[in-house]
Amino acid sequence: MAELENESVDLVVTSPPYNLGIDYRSYDDTSPREDFLLWCADWAGEILRILRPDGSFFLNLGGSPSNPLLPHQLLLALTAPDLFKLQNTFHWIKSISIQTRNDKIISAGHFKPINSQRYVNDCHEFVFHLTRTGSVPLDRRSAGVPYADKSNITRWKHTKGVDRRCRGNTWFIPYETIRSREDQRPHPATFPPALVEQCIRLHGQGSETVLLDPFLGIGSSALAARNQNISTCIGFEIDEQYLQIARERLDNSADQPGQQAAIPLEVEHEPELPL
Ligand SMILES: C[S@@+](CC[C@H](N)C(=O)[O-])C[C@H]1O[C@@H](n2cnc3c(N)ncnc32)[C@H](O)[C@@H]1O
Repeated sequence: MAELENESVDLVVTSPPYNLGIDYRSYDDTSPREDFLLWCADWAGEILRILRPDGSFFLNLGGSPSNPLLPHQLLLALTAPDLFKLQNTFHWIKSISIQTRNDKIISAGHFKPINSQRYVNDCHEFVFHLTRTGSVPLDRRSAGVPYADKSNITRWKHTKGVDRRCRGNTWFIPYETIRSREDQRPHPATFPPALVEQCIRLHGQGSETVLLDPFLGIGSSALAARNQNISTCIGFEIDEQYLQIARERLDNSADQPGQQAAIPLEVEHEPELPL
């Protein structure tokens, strides 16, 4: 990142290691908490330097049942006075159950049972939207949804006759369930490309948009960039094997823009975490 020019990146979407003891191939995810927070402030400082003034930094963070404060501690470190402003907080909902008006329960998404008397299932992660000023304009409609009640389109002036409203800050984006054995999983902690695509739409993009993922893993951000017609995506990954899988995913999806790669990729973001 140190080689990238000042103010040269429009959009950063990333999920760093969470320091929760995840078994990555190369990275040791078990630093003392203080060291981890200092390391994060270091790379976040580089992001601040290379982000354009109207750029967006979407930071995906989760906790674990026994480490619930981690996302908040890191957020506090990254919103120190000389770093970022927290502009929006999104909740990435992986699984949800809704009770309808006629008392039916609809459950959707991928639900991974845990065996605990203390903790309930953790069905969400955060996506913190950090900016330099706290007032970066967004393309809320591109990331939005049609009105359920169409009479709202004419009732509200601000719709300007368009059937699209802001989606809000709860994003239901399920994993594609896979049933592969542990040793077939290519990476222990990925996010779905659809999550990154939502960030891209919300920030708004043009043909010159530059997207960066400093923790590329197996390339979910790069796939999302391709799906959203972003021509420049920069990624860093310390593990050669993950990077190779990222390249294969991109190659496999090259002839089918907008399609997922053919190899099984959607895996649990939290592998077996200590309860
Ligand atoms: C949570 S994973 C990111 C997964 C990615 N979002 C995906 O969907 O594939 C974090 C990644 O950061 C990588 N990593 C750790 N330290 C790094 C460093 N200093 N530079 C680049 N990558 C690093 C790890 O190897 C791991 O693949």
